[in-house]
Amino acid sequence: MKQLQFDDSMKIGIASLDAQHEELTAIINELYYAYMQGTHREVLCGLITRVNDYAHEHFELERRYMEPFVFEMPDYMAHMDEHRAFFTDAIGFLLRYLEEDTAITAEMLDFLLDWWKNHIMKRDKEMGRFLRSRGVTV
Ligand SMILES: [Fe+2]
Ligand SMILES: [Fe+2]
Repeated sequence: MKQLQFDDSMKIGIASLDAQHEELTAIINELYYAYMQGTHREVLCGLITRVNDYAHEHFELERRYMEPFVFEMPDYMAHMDEHRAFFTDAIGFLLRYLEEDTAITAEMLDFLLDWWKNHIMKRDKEMGRFLRSRGVTV
């Protein structure tokens, strides 16, 4: 079973965003664990809704952090595109599961964990470096 360990190597140096990354990682891990345990559909749907809601809240906070610097950040648009892709590419299979009785597989959840980690390690870290260069740390 794969779990994503949130550790210092994943921190981007903006305290509130690091806290949210840790929290969403924990929710995704909880979903993964519940799925592997064969947990009832109703419980899985509750966790999927939490992932979806929390991701919306988190991406909105990042957008607000970046907003004052949109013309200075070269990868701002690409970053926004990746946030949109989270709902279609990374958790599209989970959102379909909410609507109809489609299957979830461990491979899909692995893909989600990889997607989430890669986004933090690349886009979010770049954003963190930029914001810290402008004196933003919390
Ligand atoms: Fe993020
Ligand atoms: Fe992001």
